[in-house]
Amino acid sequence: GILERLRRPIVLVGLMGAGKSCVGRRLAARLGIPFVDADSEFEAAAGCSIADFFARYGEPAFREGERKVIARLMEGPLCVLATGGGAFCDPETRDRIKQGAMSVWIRADLDLLVKRTSGRDHRPLLKTGDPREILSRLMDARYPLYAQADIIVDTTDEPPEVTVAKVLDEL
Ligand code: S3P
Repeated sequence: GILERLRRPIVLVGLMGAGKSCVGRRLAARLGIPFVDADSEFEAAAGCSIADFFARYGEPAFREGERKVIARLMEGPLCVLATGGGAFCDPETRDRIKQGAMSVWIRADLDLLVKRTSGRDHRPLLKTGDPREILSRLMDARYPLYAQADIIVDTTDEPPEVTVAKVLDEL
């Protein structure tokens, strides 16, 4: 099976709203391994929400914590790990994932990202201006980095199970 062949965590990367957590949870269930969400793990470790953490300590402190949380999770039991959108853009985390995991970029277009993130206010980066403009700028900056993932899966406005099937096909 896939797991015997891989023997390393499956790490989902991509922008906010691509569906990393949603797809990751279902993918883990299909593979019969735990699902872990790096954002949730960060919040548990910090004892507050990411939005509050950003407001109190700023983004650089968040990135430092995120780096540690992901390093710890990658040492743990085999799992599907959904990362926050900025994680794979940190050189140290990206190297760690490239060395020790199977990385999957869940790629989506701007319209889908805007749609999926709208009406939700837990993402501090999208609250500093027009979300479409911010997401568009993040696409420009980050897509060349996400492109270094082992596998790239395009997602449209489709049920998460369809995206999961695409990932399983590629693994
Ligand atoms: C971020 C994405 C968020 C979260 C934080 C910063 C980013 O995670 O880690 O708000 O830099 O793209 P999601 O991609 O799960 O929304």
